[in-house]
Amino acid sequence: KAYVPGAKPKAELEALDKELLELVAELQPTPEERQRQQDALEAVRSALVKRWPECKVHLFGSTANQLSICNNNDIDVCLELPGLPTDANTKGEIVEELGDLLMEAGMQNVLPLPKARVPVVKFVVGDNSVKVDITVNNILAIVNTKLLADYVKLDERLLQLCCIVKHWAKRRQVNDSYRGTLSSYCYVLMCIHLLQQRQPAILPCLQSLKPATFQRTVGQWMCDYYDDVEQLKGFGSANKESLSELVWAFFEHWAWKHDYNNAVVSVRTGGFLTKSQKEWTRRVGNERHLVCIEDPFELTHDLGRTVDRQTNGVLHKEFERAACVLRDLPSPLEKLLEPY
Ligand code: GTP
Ligand code: MG
Repeated sequence: KAYVPGAKPKAELEALDKELLELVAELQPTPEERQRQQDALEAVRSALVKRWPECKVHLFGSTANQLSICNNNDIDVCLELPGLPTDANTKGEIVEELGDLLMEAGMQNVLPLPKARVPVVKFVVGDNSVKVDITVNNILAIVNTKLLADYVKLDERLLQLCCIVKHWAKRRQVNDSYRGTLSSYCYVLMCIHLLQQRQPAILPCLQSLKPATFQRTVGQWMCDYYDDVEQLKGFGSANKESLSELVWAFFEHWAWKHDYNNAVVSVRTGGFLTKSQKEWTRRVGNERHLVCIEDPFELTHDLGRTVDRQTNGVLHKEFERAACVLRDLPSPLEKLLEPY
């Protein structure tokens, strides 16, 4: 059934907005939680500088771009070793060594994954049970975290929408790229893209604005973009859409409007590309390209690559379920976020 704009009574939309904004506030990590994460970072840092005095230890991911939601106290940490070759083998070796070192430093459940696409050690900081993923010279992740953080500063509706979508994805168990659904990072890119696509646009495309005030090349990838966000304050103010309208637009798009056969979501260009432009038309190894989300910097990287036939069906059903619940129930929030 096609959606008729305005079909939902104004009073219902306003009530939903109020509930959504309350939920967003509840989902913000508490100061105690932030402090625990900060303490964990310091514990990791002091363990690492003993072995590598010249290293830098960065926080990235949601704890660094304001998009973390509470009760999900994982932190993403990157060990930067200047001058280290960046190939996966070397990183894998460092990850093995890191594993031993972290164990000696008293970290718990230490699990080195040296053969992962991005080699990583997973562990828990003993003192405060914060879970940590640590990667080595993962400079792209630091740069894409900054890009997301800059988008977050431009319009408060992005943080609100991401919070609701991430919370929904966790509740409905479609937030696990290892199991064939989508990562949080991918959902955030989908949200940014949606706000770039609204008419009038709520977010600009920072990678097409000139001049590029931030410049960095990582390996073969040029990561330049316009990062003077102060100059862009108020960019989206001509668009008056409320959070409930945007949540609806998100699910409506992914339930019914998205051209799954051809379209590639591209935050880099602020628009859609085609699968043939990207040469993402056929399966290569485990990469099926059923849902295509282009990484803003690592242009050969499709964040939807992990989706297979089965999980594609699951995802699509969940998007449709969410859209139907939003459309049909006068007070849809509880049902929308019902644990799977
Ligand atoms: P939560 O942990 O669920 O709160 O979300 P998050 O925003 O931290 O995202 P996630 O844990 O999925 O990823 C953490 C960071 O890793 C992201 O912000 C990116 O910087 C980076 N990242 C994750 N997946 C990829 C990927 O497939 N490619 C690249 N280049 N970076 C990624
Ligand atoms: Mg994370």
